[in-house]
Amino acid sequence: MLALKHLLIVYHSQTGHTQAMAEAVLRGARSPEVEGVEVRMLRAGDAGAEDLLWADALILGTPENFGYMSGAVKDFLDRTYYSCEGKVESLPYAVFISAGNDGSGALGSIQRIARGYPLRVVQEPIIARGNTTDAILASCEELGMTMAAGLEMSVF
Ligand SMILES: Cc1cc2nc3c(=O)[nH]c(=O)nc-3n(C[C@H](O)[C@H](O)[C@H](O)COP(=O)(O)O)c2cc1C
Repeated sequence: MLALKHLLIVYHSQTGHTQAMAEAVLRGARSPEVEGVEVRMLRAGDAGAEDLLWADALILGTPENFGYMSGAVKDFLDRTYYSCEGKVESLPYAVFISAGNDGSGALGSIQRIARGYPLRVVQEPIIARGNTTDAILASCEELGMTMAAGLEMSVF
């Protein structure tokens, strides 16, 4: 039997928008069409180095706060860096962001850290500006499914 691949979703949300996106990503990742992938979703404050070391791919979700990723997601990356240094090289990752009206600062801040970590981006970012529309949630679901299917088929 093939070993399960591991997909980690780490997100922060204060008022629920990023949470709704995360739940859609999780739904997609757990789609019955994908087998052989175990999915773990954690809030950033509850996630640590052992989760990242477990993961074969990472999906990060954050609101944009003051033109940056949320402090909780930054804290997750800060806390895990030394324990994971050299052990998660080129881990495939993707991002979803909820922003009032922009999102580019949150995206840029994650991309900068990902380059240093280093993580390897494998999907286009999803940025919701304002309302979390059905179209955004559908894109999030597709992101989760694509990441899980990619892991299952070892395309990353
Ligand atoms: C402290 C704070 C700072 C924010 N800064 C920005 C910002 O720089 N750019 C932006 O587009 N939205 C900004 N927003 C709006 C949030 O990104 C937006 O409301 C988002 O949907 C919140 O996601 P959540 O419901 O998952 O917490 C900010 C909100 C808060 C509370």
